[in-house]
Amino acid sequence: MTAVDIGSGVRSGGGEVLAEAGRRRTFAVISHPDAGKSTLTEALALHASAISQAGAVHGKAGRRGVTSDWMAMERDRGISITSAVLRFDFGDTVVNLLDTPGHADFSEDTYRVLEAVDCAVMLLDSAKGLEPQTLKLFDVCRSRRVPVITFVNKWDRPGREPLELLDEIEQRLRLRPTPVNWPVGVAGDFRGLLECATGDYTAFTRTPGGAGRALEERMDAARAAEREGEAYTRATEELALLEEIGAGVDEPSFLAGESSPVLFGAALPNFGVARLLEALRELAPAPRPRTDVAETPRPIDAPFSGLVFKVQAGMNAAHRDRIAFVRVCSGRFERGMVLTHAASGRPFATKYAQAMFGAERETLDVAYPGDVIGLVNADALRPGDTLYEGPAVEFPGIPSFAPEYFAVLRCKDSGKSKQFRKGVDQLGTEGVVQVLASDLRGDQAPVLAAVGPLQFDVVRHRLEHEFRAPATLDHLGYQLAMRTDAAGAEALIGERGTEVLTRRLDGALLALFADKWVLSALRRNRPEILLEPLLAGTG
Ligand code: G4P
Repeated sequence: MTAVDIGSGVRSGGGEVLAEAGRRRTFAVISHPDAGKSTLTEALALHASAISQAGAVHGKAGRRGVTSDWMAMERDRGISITSAVLRFDFGDTVVNLLDTPGHADFSEDTYRVLEAVDCAVMLLDSAKGLEPQTLKLFDVCRSRRVPVITFVNKWDRPGREPLELLDEIEQRLRLRPTPVNWPVGVAGDFRGLLECATGDYTAFTRTPGGAGRALEERMDAARAAEREGEAYTRATEELALLEEIGAGVDEPSFLAGESSPVLFGAALPNFGVARLLEALRELAPAPRPRTDVAETPRPIDAPFSGLVFKVQAGMNAAHRDRIAFVRVCSGRFERGMVLTHAASGRPFATKYAQAMFGAERETLDVAYPGDVIGLVNADALRPGDTLYEGPAVEFPGIPSFAPEYFAVLRCKDSGKSKQFRKGVDQLGTEGVVQVLASDLRGDQAPVLAAVGPLQFDVVRHRLEHEFRAPATLDHLGYQLAMRTDAAGAEALIGERGTEVLTRRLDGALLALFADKWVLSALRRNRPEILLEPLLAGTG
């Protein structure tokens, strides 16, 4: 195990923290499955020279490497359920790239990750434009006020017209697209990229197999026109049109979530990926003060504070422990510090802090705002918890989504009931699924509530493989849940098509309903009962 210091040596004082925070870019890539998120992640890390050849990060079929899609189930299904964190240096910039699951059923996990980033890259397939999952994830970004940079991928394959894609972004997302660069050559005949602000041209030449950096050649307008002919003329005409309507990059509206800088490229042959990294460095915001529950911003150079945004166990067969991922919000983190856990008021030792790289880990000694720390065996920590040093602070928790799928979980083997209880507890704490209970149903038959049914499969898989407690699931005929109170729970006893359960994680009382008709009839007939909507899931 090697030790890393994400910062640049031991100095002290607020100036150091501000300088270190200023060079951090912490972001996530959001996309519909298959748009090329894994390929882009690899290409970004490659350009930052973190790994020598594309393919080393995700280890997809046929490529070698460490896997950040670590669970066998994920590999079998070709989906990424759990999120990993990648960190690499790009010149003087420290890039923290947080991976998000691509599948809609895990949008609650994506939401938690988006709590921890300062920016998102919305990845589009040039042939498909905005796809259902892109729209849903974008909605999450908007609700979290996360600024979005758009990357139109796969320009090396036949696809749509660039102007048509911009139009779709504007119409469907109500987001003003502001191109940073513009493709020369239609999709499928990708020649190079024109820089909108300067008119500089970069021609690309494919490298065999796509691995390694693409060959790039910068040239002036005359040479570009000569080399690319008609394709160049057309691109410059389109650019002139965009200039006329004032589509230049506009930082204030980007940061306010009203416009999105757009870049074109192709992750697989590594075209335009370096430019995306530069755009992240130039445009993406550095960490900004996070607002606490009292709506007071905690200055970046205040003593340490961090938000737990994810808890994950069983990430790697060699390390069967549980890791809490903490986004540093303020101050300098030093391994060994004793922090305070805001939820319990208890001290929290950080001797085993780690830096994550896919499924690889290293001991982490120092970290700054924007960085992600992995805390090992942090059993007391839950997503949404705050850790701090010095003046007390508590950030708003991360809300749970409104579940739409419900099932009773039972242990198959009564001799394993202890492991079963432990597993259910842990999976609930991690936020893999919401665990609901009632006196009536008892400890051995908890109700699982999920945004998407694949969450149930993860629970069953992990109970069987990690906790050696195989379980059965029986789906319950409920479709929605509302928050109620003790009086509401009492009043709902005996009502048809409804049941009140307690969410283990936070003690919230959830009333489940067979369908929306049962709910609306109750609302009409019993207006005195408190029934509050939960946060609408993106699933
Ligand atoms: P995801 O993580 O968003 O699900 O997508 P992933 O990167 O796995 O990419 C999905 C497919 O699209 C992969 O092909 C990948 O090679 C391809 N792809 C990604 N970016 C580009 C690009 O810029 N140009 C072209 N032409 N293809 C691209 P696959 O055949 O499904 O998988 P694989 O066997 O190549 O890994």
